[in-house]
Amino acid sequence: MIVINFKTYKQGKEVLKLAKIIERVDKNIIVGVQAADIVKIAEKTKLNIYAQHVEHFGPGRHTGYILPESVKANGAKGTFLNHSEHKIAFPELKKTIERCKKLGLKTMVFASSLKEAKKIEGLKPDYIVFEPPELVAGKISVSKAKPELIKKISKNVKTKIIVGAGIHTKEDVKKSLELGASGIAVSSAITLAKNPERKLRELLSY
Ligand code: G3P
Repeated sequence: MIVINFKTYKQGKEVLKLAKIIERVDKNIIVGVQAADIVKIAEKTKLNIYAQHVEHFGPGRHTGYILPESVKANGAKGTFLNHSEHKIAFPELKKTIERCKKLGLKTMVFASSLKEAKKIEGLKPDYIVFEPPELVAGKISVSKAKPELIKKISKNVKTKIIVGAGIHTKEDVKKSLELGASGIAVSSAITLAKNPERKLRELLSY
């Protein structure tokens, strides 16, 4: 599994341009995009689209919030939750996962440690993404810096584990999978690449 987190690096037409490049490489890749970009990418590509966050509220008086109903109706298949750049309190996370399950929206929940991953496992999300926050957007990958921890989390947590942070070479991808991860999450290596298609093909070429 490959997850590409667009974060907020690109806006408007640039988002669609990158999404089309990714689709050309592999339409099964999961892309996590800003809520405002979901509908456009859903209309123009066959990518597997995830929101970057949703709230636990239902329809009603919640001005400015992003509802699971809304992202689903616009074409998202799932949502990220609890990314290190958008942490949420545990009780809120629990409610949000429950709401998403009822709506049939997949949940990909981020964890910064084995302890947090174990706690999140109890909420039965579809996927857990292990990302040490200090390695995010850096040049040292999670697979280089924390190989033992990836192994330990993959062994001790039953939910499918994806790993991310600092991944930028095919060796990083290969190593992550060898250590027991079911997939990788990447952002800056692709979103900031001069030639994102070449970079993505390189990452997938291991
Ligand atoms: O969700 C993926 C992300 O946080 C990793 O970012 O830039 O280190 O690939 P990056």
